[in-house]
Formats: sequence, structure tokens, C-alpha cells
Amino acid sequence: MLLQDRVAVITGAGRGIGRAIARLFVDEGCRVMINDVERDPADEAATFCTESATRSHVHTSIGSIADPHYVESLMSETVSEFGSIDILVNNAGITRDGMIHKMSEEEWHTVLDVNLGGTFRCIRAAAPFLRDPAKAEIEATGDVRYHRKIVNFFSTSAIHGNIGQANYAAAKMGNVGLTRSLAREWAPFRINVNCVAPGFTDTRMTQIKEDAASGMGIPRARRDELLQKLPFGRPASPEDVARVVLFFASPLSDWVTGQTINVSGGQQIP
Ligand SMILES: NC(=O)c1ccc[n+]([C@@H]2O[C@H](COP(=O)([O-])OP(=O)(O)OC[C@H]3O[C@@H](n4cnc5c(N)ncnc54)[C@H](O)[C@@H]3O)[C@@H](O)[C@H]2O)c1
Repeated sequence: MLLQDRVAVITGAGRGIGRAIARLFVDEGCRVMINDVERDPADEAATFCTESATRSHVHTSIGSIADPHYVESLMSETVSEFGSIDILVNNAGITRDGMIHKMSEEEWHTVLDVNLGGTFRCIRAAAPFLRDPAKAEIEATGDVRYHRKIVNFFSTSAIHGNIGQANYAAAKMGNVGLTRSLAREWAPFRINVNCVAPGFTDTRMTQIKEDAASGMGIPRARRDELLQKLPFGRPASPEDVARVVLFFASPLSDWVTGQTINVSGGQQIP
């Protein structure tokens, strides 16, 4: 049990990678606040998680990480429900693809506001529950009881750049700078801050765009081309990514902070 009695907030945990992280964390003894902007997937994720745990290990909170007021209530609700916050996983993300010469202000701002602004807002709102108790422990005893953890998300498509994703790439690479700065700021409090870049992972975000109601996805021809190039011959499953997030959330990574890792199944990223 790598996360016994820890409390985690996972954003965008109703589907895909976030849902797999929630289940894996619960399996490892963690109590999990499942956030999503949509109620139905969040409720389904909670049911999925309680296949291996009691209902008291999981709670849902519905709202957008683009809304600063909601994000504050997400953190305080977590503490009322579970008593603390030890781990924050800033997983929620969206795409609104388009060529830059046609990209609207709305497409730019929406993507920045969720993928980058959401990470900033969640960290700021969690500070009283992550940073302050760590600081108090150090003042009282000279050390913390355990390392607290933040895991942020970026993307291999942001590292190498991707046609039609200038907004997404800018937001995701912003999370790398945010991670490295915060790792320095909160190192004195033994709060580890790291960042995970999934490669092509089998979720709603990478479904065939022509079939997608969400407006997200990859055009069929481009998707087929990408699938041909995957070294392991298949996309990552959400669980493949979740296991790396577990490493960063657990004591196994206590001596690792400010780092980025590609979970890309061998795809070489320049
Ligand atoms: N799937 C991939 O190939 C891939 C590759 C690189 C990076 N990523 C990143 O991994 C993370 C998870 O992506 P996924 O593939 O599981 O996507 P997904 O679309 O399957 O799941 C994302 C979840 O986030 C929720 N969400 C969206 N906006 C939100 C908001 N404003 N507030 C709260 N919740 C919100 C959605 O409702 C959804 O349930 C994202 O940060 C994404 O950018 C995914």
C-alpha cells in the first residue's frame, strides 16, 4: 500500500487517465477526491473506484478548474471530507484544435485557462492545506512527517510541437515552467512537484475526431499515421500513465522534484 491513509485531489478524474489514477490510488490505500466538470463521468468513476474499496474512500466534486471560486471550494470540501490534502494531481485537460491563423480568442483562452490556469489555480487554492501544515511541522520538529506531492501534466505533442495545437502546446509547456519554479519554491517544505508527459494514450482526447461528439480527437488519417509510428505497437492505456503518476505521488519519489518524464512507450522526443 504505497498511499495508505494519504488524501489526494485528482482533477478531471471522471474519464481517461484521471479515472485510472483515481482507481490505482484507491487500490493503494488513498482517499480520493474525484473532480470533474461533468457529473455523470465523475459518478461512474466513483463507482469504479469503490469496486476495490469502501465508499468512504471516495468523494466527488463537480466544477471547473477554470473557476477560481469553485477551485477554492474543491480544496476546502476535500479537507472537510477527509481531513487533509497530501497529494494534488493536476490532470484535467482539454483541446480546441485549429490552425493559428484561424484560431479564435475563445479557443486560445479556453485551452490556456483549463490546461495552465487550472494547474496554477489548484496549486494556489491547495497551498493552505499543503504548504502551511508542512511549514508548521518543520517549525515544530525540524522536519515534515512525510513529503507532500504535486503531479502536473504536459504532453509529448507539446514538446515536439503539433500542427493545430499551438494553444494546447503553449499551455502544456507552461506547466513545465510552473513545475520547475514551484519545485524550488516549495522544496523547503518537502513538497515534491513533478510533471508527466503522456504520449499517445487511448482516451477521449485521442479518439477519431470525425466520430467524436466532444469536438476533441485526432483526424482519422493523422491518427492512423501516428499509430503506425508507435514503438510498442499500441497506444498507452490510461493505466500505463497512472502507474508513473503513482510513482510521483508515493514515497518512492521523495528525492525527486522539479522533474519531467515522458510516458511515451519509447517514442523519441527531440
Ligand atoms: N490522451 C492523450 O494521448 C494525452 C497525451 C498527452 C497529454 N494528455 C493529458 O493527460 C490529461 C488527461 O487527459 P485524458 O486523455 O484522460 O482526457 P479525457 O478527455 O479522457 O479526460 C479529461 C477529463 O477532464 C475533465 N475536464 C475537462 N475540463 C475540465 C475542467 N475545466 N475542470 C474539471 N475537469 C475537466 C473532462 O470532463 C474529462 O473527464 C490531460 O491533461 C491531457 O492534456 C493526454
